[in-house]
Amino acid sequence: MNIAVDVVSEELSCSQIDAIGVGELVSYGQTLSAMLDMVEASDAVTTVGASLASVLHSASLTGGAKPACCDVSRYGRELMYLDPAKRFTILVLRWLPGAATRIHGHNAWGVVGVHSGNLTIRCYDLLDDTSLVSQTMQVVGSAGDVSIVGPAPKGIHAISNETDSEAYSVHIYGMDLSVEPEGINVYYE
Ligand SMILES: [Fe+2]
Repeated sequence: MNIAVDVVSEELSCSQIDAIGVGELVSYGQTLSAMLDMVEASDAVTTVGASLASVLHSASLTGGAKPACCDVSRYGRELMYLDPAKRFTILVLRWLPGAATRIHGHNAWGVVGVHSGNLTIRCYDLLDDTSLVSQTMQVVGSAGDVSIVGPAPKGIHAISNETDSEAYSVHIYGMDLSVEPEGINVYYE
């Protein structure tokens, strides 16, 4: 699918990172790296899932700074931390009102937490061995809510901001996304 790049406004065209939020997330990432040194690789996702909620309540990612650029789809992502052993990447996503992803799954495990605002999450099941999906659930996540997402074809979903306010979320994925942050996604439409 081709998405025309459309700068929404000058305010949104640059990437400015809030120093406090970045510092907290980098510190959390370093702590997480040390924690994962202590557990089996198969336990990594539950370790991350159990620890993210407290960070969501403390990391100040907004406050006038803009953690990510947004294109015509009205959301953007910014790399916050790459585990030195490349076991995971932490990203911040900024969602303008009306932002919406395509229906997708992930190439690795993921843990997604809402930092601020409200995000609508729709879940889908894959139909047979085709690329067709059917919606199975819809929830609205608010600040502090954390979801664990299994690799595709598990955990097929779409996320949207259906409010009039911006939303921010923290995403931790079990792979190196430092070169291609969108490389986590497998699309189904
Ligand atoms: Fe996703």
